[in-house]
Amino acid sequence: MRIVCIGGGPAGLYFALLMKKRHPAHHITVVERNRPYDTFGWGVVMSDATMEGMRANDPESADEIQEAFNHWDDIEVLFKGRRMRTSGHGFVGIGRKKMLNILQARCERLGVELVFERDVESDLDFPDADLIIASDGINSRIRARYADVFQPDQVVRPNRYIWLGTGKLFDAFTFDFRRTEHGWFQTHIYKFDDETSTCIVETTEDTFRAHGIDSFSLDQSIAFCESLFAEVLDGETLKSNARHLRGSAWLNFNRLICGKWHLHNGRSHVALMGDAVHTAHFAIGSGTKLAVDDAIELARQFDARGHSAAAIPEALAAYESLRKVETARIQNAARNAMEWFEVVGRRYADALEPEQFMYSLLTRSQRIGHENLRVRDQAWLEGYERWYAGRSGLAVSEARRPPPPMLTPFTLRGMTVPNRVVVSPMAMYSATDGVPGDFHLVHLGARAMGGAGLIYGEMTCVSPDSRITPACAGLWTEEQAAAWKRIVDFVHANSAAKFGIQLGHAGRKGATRVAWDGMDQPLDSGGWPLISASALPYLPHSPTPRAMDRADMDKVIADFVRSTRLAAETGADILELHCAHGYLLSAFLSPLTNRRDDRYGGDHAGRARFPLEVFRAVRAAWPADRPISVRLSCHDWFEGGNTPDDAVVFARMFRDAGADMIDCSSGQVWKGVSPVYGRMYQTPFSDRIRNELGIPTIAVGAISDADQANSIIAAGRADLCAVARPHLADPAWTLHEAARIGFADIAWPRQYLSGKGQYETNLARNLEVGRG
Ligand SMILES: Cc1cc2nc3c(=O)[nH]c(=O)nc-3n(C[C@H](O)[C@H](O)[C@H](O)COP(=O)(O)OP(=O)(O)OC[C@H]3O[C@@H](n4cnc5c(N)ncnc54)[C@H](O)[C@@H]3O)c2cc1C
Ligand SMILES: Cc1cc2nc3c(=O)[nH]c(=O)nc-3n(C[C@H](O)[C@H](O)[C@H](O)COP(=O)(O)O)c2cc1C
Repeated sequence: MRIVCIGGGPAGLYFALLMKKRHPAHHITVVERNRPYDTFGWGVVMSDATMEGMRANDPESADEIQEAFNHWDDIEVLFKGRRMRTSGHGFVGIGRKKMLNILQARCERLGVELVFERDVESDLDFPDADLIIASDGINSRIRARYADVFQPDQVVRPNRYIWLGTGKLFDAFTFDFRRTEHGWFQTHIYKFDDETSTCIVETTEDTFRAHGIDSFSLDQSIAFCESLFAEVLDGETLKSNARHLRGSAWLNFNRLICGKWHLHNGRSHVALMGDAVHTAHFAIGSGTKLAVDDAIELARQFDARGHSAAAIPEALAAYESLRKVETARIQNAARNAMEWFEVVGRRYADALEPEQFMYSLLTRSQRIGHENLRVRDQAWLEGYERWYAGRSGLAVSEARRPPPPMLTPFTLRGMTVPNRVVVSPMAMYSATDGVPGDFHLVHLGARAMGGAGLIYGEMTCVSPDSRITPACAGLWTEEQAAAWKRIVDFVHANSAAKFGIQLGHAGRKGATRVAWDGMDQPLDSGGWPLISASALPYLPHSPTPRAMDRADMDKVIADFVRSTRLAAETGADILELHCAHGYLLSAFLSPLTNRRDDRYGGDHAGRARFPLEVFRAVRAAWPADRPISVRLSCHDWFEGGNTPDDAVVFARMFRDAGADMIDCSSGQVWKGVSPVYGRMYQTPFSDRIRNELGIPTIAVGAISDADQANSIIAAGRADLCAVARPHLADPAWTLHEAARIGFADIAWPRQYLSGKGQYETNLARNLEVGRG
C-alpha cells in the first residue's frame, strides 16, 4: 500500500511506524509542515496503561520514551494559603518535542519517508495514495474540506488558557489557585524533563477580560502570570515557546467530535486520526493517548484483515466503530474534568474549605472514586475522612478508623440523621383507601433496620382526588395518620433512622392504574376529575385535567396544610414537598405543562407562585424545629422545558422561602423524553445547587454503591445520597455496603448481631478468592 500521513504529530508518526514495522513493503510518507526534529510544545502526560500499549506494539520506541520520562507520584495543591499534598497518583511526563523526535528517528530507521517543511493544501495532492491519514491536528484542513461528510461538531469552551514553561523543577503535579480582584485563576504545573516544567494558566472569559488581558502582548501576559504565581514559581520566570502555535496567546479549548471518521475522495481512502477527529481537554491529559490508541487500533485492523489495499474499507469501518466508543468514554471523563475547571471559581473555590476543595479536585473527572483514592494514598484519605467526620460533629480518635463520609451524621434544624444514606421515596401502590398497612410497616421497617439514616415514605397524597392510583398512600384522615404513626414509631423504636413523609398531589398524572397494571395508563373505571396548571392530558388518551382556578388552589393549599398537621402528629422527623416528576406542583414549574397566561404562569416567578404558596402554608403548619426538603425535577430533558439553569432559580426561591434542603431529581414531566442516563447522572444538579446557592441537597439517581455515595458526599456534591431501586433489591443496603468496603464499626440491629461477623468474614473471603 501507499500510505501518506498528513501531519507528523504523535498520530501520524506512530501510525506510520507501526504500519512500516508490520509490513515493510508498504510505502509510507509522513508530510509535516514544520522543520525536521523541530516541533512545538512543552510536556505531555501519559498513564502507565498507555505506555504498556505502546510497549506491546513497538518496544523499541517505548523503551526510548520510557527512558526520557519523568515519573512522579504526588499531587500538590496550593489554595487559600494552604499547601496540601497526596501521593500514589503515578504520572509520567515527557517533552512533546522529545517524544516526537524519538518517533521521527524510529520512523527513519524503519524506512518511513519523512517530508518536512511542506504545508499540504489538500489530500488530492497525493493521487497515488491508497490510504491517506489526516493527522493534521485540531485545525485539520482535510477535515474542513469534507466537513459535510465528517460532520465535525466543534464547541469552543468558555475558559481561556495559555501554555507556558518554566525552569523551576517541580517534584509533584502542582495546582495553584489564586483569587484576584476580578476572579480566580488556576495553573496546572508538571515537570517533563531535567530543565523544564509545563505551566498552563487558565481562567474564565469574564476574569480574563476584566483584567484587560485581551489587549495584553505576550510579554505582558507572561509578566502577569509570573506575578500572580510568584509564590509557587519561587521567583522563577515563565517563558513562551514562540514557535508554539498554541502557546503564543491565550486560547479557548475546542471540543471536537466527528460523526464520520473516513471517506473515499475518488482516488484514495482518507481517514481522520488524533486531534483531527477528536479532542480531550488537557484537564485529564489524554490527547496524546487518544492519538496513539487510534494509530494502534487501525494498524491492528490491517493485521486482522491483511495488509492490502483491498482490506482498507473494512479496516476503516471497524476502526471508526471501535474507536468511537472508547473516545466517547474518555471525552466524557475529560468533559467532567474540564467543566470542573470552568466553574471552579464560581462554584467551589469560595464555597469549599481547602480539604474538601482538594478532594473535589482529585475526583473531578468522576473516574477516580473514594476507594481508589484509598488505594492511592490511604494515609491521606483517612486523614480526610477524619477531618470530614469532625466537620460532621463526630470526633474520631487517631486510634480508630474514621467512618466513610456516607456514615457520618448530618443535622438540619432539630433533626440529626445518623448517616447520610436515604431510602428514596418509592410509591408501592399497596394502600387501601390511602391507609398504609402491614406491607408498609414491614417494607419501611426492614429498610430502617437495614441501616439507612433516613427513610422516606412514598409519595403520600393530600386528598382522595390527589392520588396517582387508587392504591396510593394518603394522609387526609386521622386513621391514615394513626397508620403512619405506627410505622414511624416502629422505625424510631427499632433503629437510629429518622423518618420522612413526602407529601404530593398527582395533578394531571392522577387516576391511573397501579404500576404493574400499566404505568401512567388511565383507569378503565372509577377515575376522578383531574386538575393541573393547564388543561393538557399526560398521555394522548389520558383524561384532560381542568386548569385550576383560585378556588381549586385554595382547596389544594388547605389539603396540604391538613396533611402537614397530620404528618406532625405521626412524629415524622422531616417533610418533603413533592415538586417533581410532572405531578401537580411540578406541572406549575415546567413551561411544558404550564401554559397559563395569568399570574401563575409565564416567567419563573409566575410558574413558582402557586408551589411557593403551598410551600409557605406547609412551612407555617409544620413544627419549626423540623426541616422540610423540596424535591425538584432539575431537568425536563425536553426542548423548551426546564433545564438545570431553571432549577437553580427555583431552588433559590424555595431556599428563600425557608426550604432546608433540595432533593435533586429530574424528568417524568413530559412523556417521551430521553434523559442522558449514566451512573450518578443527576448528581451534577445537586452539586450545582448546593455549591452555588449554599443550600444542603440530596443527590439521587443511579447511585449504586458505597464508593459512589462516599465520593459524592466527600466532594461536597451533596449532603445526603438517596438510593431507591437498590433498596428494593436489598433492604440492608447500607449495612451490606459498609461491609463491602471493610468498615465494621456500624451498628446492626442487636437481634441480628450474630449474622454480622459471619457476613463480613464471608465477604472478605469472597473478595480474596476474586482477587486470587
Ligand atoms: C495546553 C495543552 C496541553 C496538553 N497536554 C497534554 C497532555 O498532558 N497529555 C496529552 O496526552 N495530551 C496533551 N495535549 C494534547 C496533545 O497535544 C494532542 O492531543 C496531541 O498532540 C494530538 O496528536 P496529533 O498527532 O493528533 O496532533 P498534533 O500533535 O497537533 O499534530 C498535528 C501535526 O500536523 C501538522 N500539520 C497540521 N496541518 C498540516 C498541513 N496542512 N500540512 C502539514 N502538516 C500539518 C502540525 O504541524 C503538527 O505537527 C495538550 C494540548 C494542549 C493544547
Ligand atoms: C418503584 C418506584 C417508585 C417511586 N416512587 C416515587 C415517589 O413516590 N416519589 C418520588 O419522589 N420518587 C419516586 N420514585 C423515584 C425514586 O425516588 C428515585 O428518584 C429514582 O428511582 C432514582 O433513584 P435510583 O436510581 O436509586 O432508583 C420511585 C422510583 C421507583 C423505582
